[in-house]
Amino acid sequence: MQSNEIRTRFIKFFEKRGHAVILSASLVPQNDPSVLFNTAGMQPLAPYLLGEKHPLGNRLVNIQKCVRTVDLDDVGDNRHFSFFEMMGNWSLGDYFKKEAITWSYEFLTSKEEGLGLNPDFLYITIFEGDDNAPLDEESKKIWMSLGIAEHRIYTLPADGNWWSPGDNGPCGPCSEMFYDMENGVVGDLSKEEFIDAVKEERIVEIWNDVFMEYEKKNGKVIGKLKQKNVDTGAGLERMTAVMQGKKTAYETDIFLPIMEKIKNFSQNYEEKSARIVADHIRTSIFLIADGVIPANKDRGYILRRLIRRAVRHMDILGLPKDSSLKIIEIVKNKYTETHANILQNYKTITDEIIKEENKFRETLERGLKEFEKGIDPFVLATTYGFPLEMTLELAKEKRIKIDIEDFHKKMEEHQKLSQTASVGMFKGGLADTSDATIKLHTAHHLLLAALQKIVSHDIHQRGSNITSERLRMDFSFDRKLTDEEKKKVEDQVNEWISMKLPVVRREMSRTEAEKLGAEMEFGVKYPEIVSLYFIGPATMSQDDIDDGPLSIEFCGGPHVTNTGDLGIFKIQKEEASSAGVRRIKAVLT
Ligand code: ALA
Repeated sequence: MQSNEIRTRFIKFFEKRGHAVILSASLVPQNDPSVLFNTAGMQPLAPYLLGEKHPLGNRLVNIQKCVRTVDLDDVGDNRHFSFFEMMGNWSLGDYFKKEAITWSYEFLTSKEEGLGLNPDFLYITIFEGDDNAPLDEESKKIWMSLGIAEHRIYTLPADGNWWSPGDNGPCGPCSEMFYDMENGVVGDLSKEEFIDAVKEERIVEIWNDVFMEYEKKNGKVIGKLKQKNVDTGAGLERMTAVMQGKKTAYETDIFLPIMEKIKNFSQNYEEKSARIVADHIRTSIFLIADGVIPANKDRGYILRRLIRRAVRHMDILGLPKDSSLKIIEIVKNKYTETHANILQNYKTITDEIIKEENKFRETLERGLKEFEKGIDPFVLATTYGFPLEMTLELAKEKRIKIDIEDFHKKMEEHQKLSQTASVGMFKGGLADTSDATIKLHTAHHLLLAALQKIVSHDIHQRGSNITSERLRMDFSFDRKLTDEEKKKVEDQVNEWISMKLPVVRREMSRTEAEKLGAEMEFGVKYPEIVSLYFIGPATMSQDDIDDGPLSIEFCGGPHVTNTGDLGIFKIQKEEASSAGVRRIKAVLT
């Protein structure tokens, strides 16, 4: 049975039993600041589980898009996907255990209306009871009345059979359904054997019925809700694998076309890397279709990591350059009928993924060159945004030993140092170190970087003066800036401020600093060891994969430690200073 047939059957089955069909909510939660993405079908419905009236009634059915990125490292095994779809039927204070369990059973086993799975291959778990709630005898009785043998019903504690979305919200005991992946070969099992068989993936969880009648606050169950709800979740990917007799969804119609494409074009095929590429590109497509774009924080940052990780594995596979485009197209075709917003946003999706891929390739190239030169991983990370993870991988390939402890030690010192920048130690330091002046000093660096980015790469500083009221910068340029340019420069500086970028100081040899292309002041003679200030994403953390700092200047400081502290940047005046030199005065408000 194809995945789309499973979808249709699920929806029809519950529609026939009085459930209103609702569309999947966006992956980006609309009114829930506690999570970056919807990670379960219940999240967008939480208000209704807590008692609010749903406009379509108290029985619903949906297939909710979910993104889970906590276990990104597990992606590539048989069962973890960063994106998946969860089929669910819902009772909002309406039916409870009897109907929920009976319908789960019927949908799984009915040949006509459901999936026609063999009832003898099912295993069931129920909640064993604790201080919050008693053993779930009721569910056990219902399962037995449906013909499930008592010895195939296992009682398990809260860590497996109490479901909640996190530390807060509706929750309750659950009853899970498992299936024998070896067509009955696994057979009857003791509780210990059952637990082992799940670990060995000989049997697999296919559905979870949660009886949500409790509420959690700050990690503690505080009592019962106003109403008894049912929240069920059956992963479409996993169910499809079961229906197609496969150990993993990568071998089902959901992923097979992508996997085959990757296999055909890979020079060094490797199953895990292929799976990571397929998974991450698919997730990226769904995220962009829901309005996320690559960025340096929050959702955009997760998307950026997914794309960059995919690119890294495409390279490991030796895939040709335009492979991401081909994969995107296959995914689009797969979901044309079920997810209209992929087709609608197809151009944005391809543009954003390709743009990010190119950006990352530039970073990689720069970082790789430095790696070849034998540069310290710490310098690679802080200066080139080259993630430690990648350094370690490369080092393994080349059988080079990396001292991880040393790396972390330096990283720590580096962070401490950057917070206690000493004044006047090197040329270019500030004399007046009031808070206002320090902020303007950092803004000064941002202004120079913005002028270079927006107006001309050839702009360099020719003089500077900072008081606690304003900054003044002289720079090489031979004409007046247009109003539009001034506005764009201002906006750029303010954007960097709002990005809350770290500002970090490092000392290094002058030659090393020059190689980095650090901005130095014209005519100044610098000492052997210099102090540099880096502003930008690459300094955020060691596993940050980024395009490098946006500003590197020879400078003695001091600076704020984060651009978020600056306030609003405004250019007051732009005028001629001398031949070929312009002058800007600007303030922070
Ligand atoms: N909310 C339940 C789950 O995600 C159904 O497993």
